[in-house]
Amino acid sequence: LQQILFKKPNEPPVVFHWFPLVGSTITYGMDPPRFFKENRAKYGDIFTFILLGKKTTVYLGPAGNDFILNGKVKDVCAEDIYTVLTTPVFGKDVVYDCPNSKLMEQKKFMKIALTTTAFQSYVPIIADEVTSYIKRCPDFKGKSGIVNIPKNMAEITIFTASHSLQGREIRNKFDESLAALYHDLDMGFTPINFMLHWAPLPWNKRRDHAQRTISKIYMDTIKERRAAGKSDAQDMMWHLMNSTYKDGRPVPDHEIAHMLIALLMAGQHSSSSTSSWMMLRLASRPDIMEALYREQVEALGADLPPLKYEDLAKLPLNQAIVKETLRLHAPIHSIMRAVKSPMPVPGTKYVIPTSHTLLSAGGVSATDPAFFPDPDRWEPTRWSKDSPLAPTVIRNEVEDEKVDYGYGLVSKGANSPYLPFGAGRHRCIGEQFANVQLQTITAMIVRQFKFRNVDGSDKIVGTDYASLFSRPIEPANIFWEKRDP
Ligand code: HEM
Repeated sequence: LQQILFKKPNEPPVVFHWFPLVGSTITYGMDPPRFFKENRAKYGDIFTFILLGKKTTVYLGPAGNDFILNGKVKDVCAEDIYTVLTTPVFGKDVVYDCPNSKLMEQKKFMKIALTTTAFQSYVPIIADEVTSYIKRCPDFKGKSGIVNIPKNMAEITIFTASHSLQGREIRNKFDESLAALYHDLDMGFTPINFMLHWAPLPWNKRRDHAQRTISKIYMDTIKERRAAGKSDAQDMMWHLMNSTYKDGRPVPDHEIAHMLIALLMAGQHSSSSTSSWMMLRLASRPDIMEALYREQVEALGADLPPLKYEDLAKLPLNQAIVKETLRLHAPIHSIMRAVKSPMPVPGTKYVIPTSHTLLSAGGVSATDPAFFPDPDRWEPTRWSKDSPLAPTVIRNEVEDEKVDYGYGLVSKGANSPYLPFGAGRHRCIGEQFANVQLQTITAMIVRQFKFRNVDGSDKIVGTDYASLFSRPIEPANIFWEKRDP
């Protein structure tokens, strides 16, 4: 009846709901992928649902991903959606608190810093951080035990990312004040802050204090570095200090500080959720963990020398663990854009009006049997070409169109069912870093541990969708045993 009474002929079908404001907020929020799949079965790839009173149009599948993620600046806008959440956390004048053309320049600066030379210096740093963490962490004392792994992976992620991207001075401050400050800052990154951004939420004072204090720490470090003179360090801070906008203006110190916060926050939740899932998956498949160990012994030698960047390419199964985990557990399940001018959907009668928000959900095609045989099975070996489970089309990897939105050539992602790092002008610039970080962490953990599920089964915990980045429901316990106690 709702379809007959309220549906406009050139707008997509609206998901049935009882209450106009609540709409489908609750069913969507509890399990977004299930919500998308159930409604795709009813309405097809394009449908609208009510999210907190706002008409939100989902366009699923590779064509939908392309329509939304490669939309033109005059048609779609990310900053209108995200700035209320991100500006108080990152700070002024960066990312979504500036015109898109400025973000493109900022992304170029960040991307240029992530070179092969930089990665070569990062791998030993990350490997050492993992080893020293395991040595000092009370959770891993003794020969074996049970641990709620997401907490440890969050710590490993912040130590490895801060040390490699932001340098030793900043990393050392995480043992002092920075960890608590980032914790307070992170409280600004909740769905409640997104929904009630206008409300004086009790934790916002601490968030704002943390933002100011962290910015000052970075700005003081920048000044100290300038005073000390040149360095050959490869970290992001140095690179941003030497970057200049097209109009000849050097990047101001407060923008460097805010970009460093943005990078750490962008990487923290996504990478720590992914590494937690990787560890949980390994615990559910000890055979794969053993295969990973053998892969290292065969490729690098039985004495397992210190890990180098070049070694990562010799470990295809280790690489596939990241890829397959992101296929099933991409931490960003919904990407939203405001609609700035009415958008006709090619090949359909629909025109999406400016009153709608667009939503892209790449995870749906990544678990679609049309592209991935036996899609719900976590099977890293499917990424080798001769596997019977190999994906049927991954076009973006072979013949994809590339575009330059202002921060270097990026794959358009059109027609690819696998886009855990997004596509188009807002595509992730941290992909290679995340891969290096996650592969190094896995390789180092595999050297030291055998994991299994506490009950020895191959079960996997459910997904917590209550925070902005999806992650394992806690406690997510695993049983660990040292290889060489
Ligand atoms: C953007 C995923 C790690 C920095 C994105 C987007 C996705 C994504 C899906 C697109 C968002 C949109 O279109 O609105 C991931 C995943 C990661 C990861 C799955 C890890 C497994 C990182 C890391 C960094 C980073 C480590 C920093 C070093 C960024 C930045 C953007 C971005 C700066 C651009 C935002 C924009 O242009 O609007 N990421 N990311 N990400 N990511 Fe990542």
